[in-house]
Amino acid sequence: MQVDSGITLVHAIWSAGRSEEILTGCDGGVCGACTVSIQLKEKPGKTIIDLACCRLVEEGMTVFPYPVPPVPPVQPSSEPSADTLRKAYPTLDRCTKCDACTTVCPMGIPVMESIKRMQAGALEEVAEDYTTCIHCGQCRAICEDRVQPHTMGMWVRRSLAIKSSAETTVPVDEDASRAEQEWAYLLSGDRKTQLQHCQQFRQTGKVGI
Ligand code: SF4
Ligand code: SF4
Ligand code: FES
Repeated sequence: MQVDSGITLVHAIWSAGRSEEILTGCDGGVCGACTVSIQLKEKPGKTIIDLACCRLVEEGMTVFPYPVPPVPPVQPSSEPSADTLRKAYPTLDRCTKCDACTTVCPMGIPVMESIKRMQAGALEEVAEDYTTCIHCGQCRAICEDRVQPHTMGMWVRRSLAIKSSAETTVPVDEDASRAEQEWAYLLSGDRKTQLQHCQQFRQTGKVGI
């Protein structure tokens, strides 16, 4: 496929009229729907997992759909704890601590250690662990015990967010102004700059302004 340089894989696939070949959601590096396997011409035999909406096309790149099917999320809880997590995901205690999930994580997340933190109820630390998760699903795919680490990690993050929003009252004006600032930051600059902003925002949760 011949495409313009400087565009993302998602946009390349769309512009080639082959949008049905890739799942997309946010087109902004957040939802993980567009995870793909990539092989580069200069690194034959090495497979990279990345988000197609954040990865720029390169000459000679080979791209495959990522074969881990999504799983439906479990409703988060406004009272997150080890017990409510266990109730939502009885798989939590199936973990045999083999560490295979940590080995495959492309983002260097300490997945198995995070499972131990979940079991101990250290949920604030778990939420930190999954800040950079790209939802590629590899930790779930490799787990023979079907523990589903990252879906539990996301459950923890969402549950803590619900708890915290119930406890904090942010004035509506302040909330709207923060959202406006974030959008202005994400949409500023050329396409390459926007991608950098998007990646930085995904990794830190903060705008660089
Ligand atoms: S979650 Fe699965 S892959 Fe990870 S350490 Fe536990 S059993 Fe092993
Ligand atoms: S889904 Fe699992 S393997 Fe993929 S980035 Fe998140 S923690 Fe790492
Ligand atoms: S479409 Fe959501 S992360 Fe790429």
